[in-house]
Amino acid sequence: MQEALTVQRVVHGTTAAQELDGSDQSMFVTVFLLLVTVCAQGGNGEEREEAQRPGHVSVVIVGGTGDLAKKYLWQGFFELYINQVRGGNTFSFYGGGLSPADKGRPALSEILKAVSCTKDLSQERCALLKEQFLRLSQYRQLKDLEDYQDLAKHIEQELQQEGLTEAGRLFYLSVPAFAYADIAEKINSSCRPTGGAWLRVVLEKPFGHDFRSAQVLASQLGSSLKDQEMYRIDHYLGKQVVAKILPFRVENRKFLDPIWNRHHIERVEIVLKETLDVKGRIPFYDQYGVVRDVLQNHLTEVMTLLTMRLPMNLSSSEEVLQNKLQIFTSLLPVGKNQAVVGQYQAYKTEVQQELNKTKDHFSPTPTFAAVLAYVDEAQYEGVPILLISGKMLDERVGYARILFKNDVFCVQNHNNIHCKPKQIVFHFGHGSLRYPAILVSKNLFKPVLMDGEWKEVTEHTDVNILGLPISDYYVQTPTEQKEAYSELISHIFAGRKNSFVSTENLLASWGFWTPLLSSLVSSFPRIYPGGAENGDLLDVRVKGKDISYNSEVVIISNDQMGGTSANSFQVMQGKFRSADMVTAWPEELVERLAADIQEAAEAAVHQGGVFHLALSGGSSPLALFHRLTQHHFSFPWKNTHVWMVDERCVPLNELESNFHNLHEHLLQHVRIPYYNIHPMPVQINQRLCVEEDGGPLLYEKEFSKLVNGSSFHFVLLGVGHDSHTASLFPGGKVDEHGESLVALTESPIKPHQRMSLTFSAINKAHTVAILVMGKGKHELITQLSRVKDNPDKWPVTGVKPAHGRLVWYIDYDALLG
Ligand SMILES: *[C@@H]1O[C@H](CO)[C@@H](O)[C@H](O)[C@H]1NC(C)=O
Ligand SMILES: *[C@@H]1O[C@H](CO)[C@@H](O)[C@H](O)[C@H]1NC(C)=O
Ligand SMILES: *[C@@H]1O[C@H](CO)[C@@H](O)[C@H](O)[C@H]1NC(C)=O
Ligand SMILES: *[C@@H]1O[C@H](CO)[C@@H](O)[C@H](O)[C@H]1NC(C)=O
Repeated sequence: MQEALTVQRVVHGTTAAQELDGSDQSMFVTVFLLLVTVCAQGGNGEEREEAQRPGHVSVVIVGGTGDLAKKYLWQGFFELYINQVRGGNTFSFYGGGLSPADKGRPALSEILKAVSCTKDLSQERCALLKEQFLRLSQYRQLKDLEDYQDLAKHIEQELQQEGLTEAGRLFYLSVPAFAYADIAEKINSSCRPTGGAWLRVVLEKPFGHDFRSAQVLASQLGSSLKDQEMYRIDHYLGKQVVAKILPFRVENRKFLDPIWNRHHIERVEIVLKETLDVKGRIPFYDQYGVVRDVLQNHLTEVMTLLTMRLPMNLSSSEEVLQNKLQIFTSLLPVGKNQAVVGQYQAYKTEVQQELNKTKDHFSPTPTFAAVLAYVDEAQYEGVPILLISGKMLDERVGYARILFKNDVFCVQNHNNIHCKPKQIVFHFGHGSLRYPAILVSKNLFKPVLMDGEWKEVTEHTDVNILGLPISDYYVQTPTEQKEAYSELISHIFAGRKNSFVSTENLLASWGFWTPLLSSLVSSFPRIYPGGAENGDLLDVRVKGKDISYNSEVVIISNDQMGGTSANSFQVMQGKFRSADMVTAWPEELVERLAADIQEAAEAAVHQGGVFHLALSGGSSPLALFHRLTQHHFSFPWKNTHVWMVDERCVPLNELESNFHNLHEHLLQHVRIPYYNIHPMPVQINQRLCVEEDGGPLLYEKEFSKLVNGSSFHFVLLGVGHDSHTASLFPGGKVDEHGESLVALTESPIKPHQRMSLTFSAINKAHTVAILVMGKGKHELITQLSRVKDNPDKWPVTGVKPAHGRLVWYIDYDALLG
């Protein structure tokens, strides 16, 4: 498969240009811990979702005057109160904070004034309920252990005075993650209810920043709270469309069963695009980046919902969570070639400002990522699952799309629905549609209408959703839009755990992401300008099992290269010694070089049916060889001849032999005909590199015969610390080689005898690439940038293709030191 995926919104129809207002509140809130006290359910993870005994419920929001509480939590609890007020429960609400009561109290009452009725309540009823809610809510300082003890005493006194049975205690900790363990411990030691009442604790991301830290946090929490007492919130699971993925799959089983598999699914895309930057949040964000902030949690949750085995019983949390866990064990590890990362251009300056860094500081934290995942199960084998998210993109939208294969070709009417994309879109919100919806293209099937809280949409504005006009879809939307937090709060109250993240699933998710995160540390993100200007820069392509940017350019901003203008954004066309230069972090550099070699190969084969490649020995090209072996399907190996740039005068099967190395690391892994491989004849008549045996002449004849004009298509060179290249060393009197194309030479280091292409041969090539990697070469690169051509002293300066092109591939370590 080879596909270019467009990340930028394609402008279609009249509504496409309407930009959405407002910020994705849910994405930006700092995450907090919600501790809910709920009826203690008999342990052993057997959580029974029993009807709760009615009684008194104490809700404690720790961090009750913070942003999240202000924006969502108090509103969510007010809605809970409205819905439960006739349910036989009584409530008290506590807003906890670090400030003393005289400061905290007024802050809380400001927040509480803002809660509103969402249901169709009469004004009088609403006012009454709100007044009751305010009366039941109070501020408490919660700082030290004594504060928690006092709170517990207060709750018990209240229960006693009013003669109430206790139903449970719900602690909502809306505080930074570092405080979780400490607060959980205080709750365990002083606030546990007795007499069969429940305790529930709700937590939010970040739950660690990699597998190990998540494990540490989980075990700290585990010493204070039982697993079934913890509710880890991923607010995405509270989104109405996300929550409907499983029910949709169940209700439409008869349509989906035959097509929900690798034979019919072309690919799955799970996308969350944002338009905002992270300015002001850098101290937090720079430690996380988009993979930890969005992919590891929200997008992963959606992926599991789409691919997990359907539970027999949708309301059984245990089964839902188990089936999710099962998918994690089936996910194939994500290799480095299955991810691309980007960073919006202004990020660098924001980091420098907010972290007080100097102008040369660069943080590689990605603000955009596209990752390709595969599920190792017969049902989904080979189905690409793309997870994509980024800041500063052209539009704000979240969706999951299942694109099916379509084998119908319309000869006459291309607008016929049968030739159009076949797809199901779970549209979480925003985008050009602007409301949450589930869309099924009409060439698939007419989905069952979901329960009473959903309705079919038949009146459409003229809008296009992922390549289809909306009139080509069956569309369903919730009758009433609900806030994710309010939904989740009602689930916590009901003790329904299937929309929360269990410890096992959390660790499984980190287990999946952590290796990729480690391998991305050395990835240099593609810098993008932000917004509509991104154009097609971030479009990705899935080729085989790899993902790459569709436009293969190395992009770095001027200032990263030590330039002066902070705002410049350009495709780097660097120069080194007046020749072209490509520069990047090592892995990207090698990837680019491999891609360039392949491009040269394809062009040569296209033109003349054959590609002549001359390769060097040494350690620098090993990473390249490794990379080339991964191109073994698409690279035209069958038409490629591999020649040696130089060779040590040792038998070809010895470890020191360049050919031996090349064979080990490249040739034996690719399908190249053996008669296309041309080792240098260093051993003739059972002796090594003896002048009279005429080895150099033999090699010269062989390649003059096979290679048109003795011009290799591509010659790969390295350069040593003494600036030698091929086996042409300083003081080697290169002039003496005359017109010879191959010569015997002397190395200052063992084995001294060498056979090498001469400058005459090298400079006839169509393309010569010089690969320089590693900090150890920085000094050399600095010197080379200054010296004049002098091949006797600086052999590499003798590389000057007469009619071809010279390109330096220099990694940042070598370039910048
Ligand atoms: C809670 O604290 C008690 C001691 O007060 C301790 O025995 C128990 O292990 C702690 N953890 C849990 C999960 O109950
Ligand atoms: C499904 O699970 C729920 C919650 O565990 C339970 O109450 C219900 O009885 C189950 N339904 C069936 C048909 O087993
Ligand atoms: C950066 O410096 C400012 C002013 O000196 C200071 O207020 C701020 O806390 C510093 N920020 C960091 C992350 O060090
Ligand atoms: C050989 O090279 C010459 C000049 O470089 C070119 O004109 C000719 O087409 C080439 N022949 C083949 C078979 O590629």
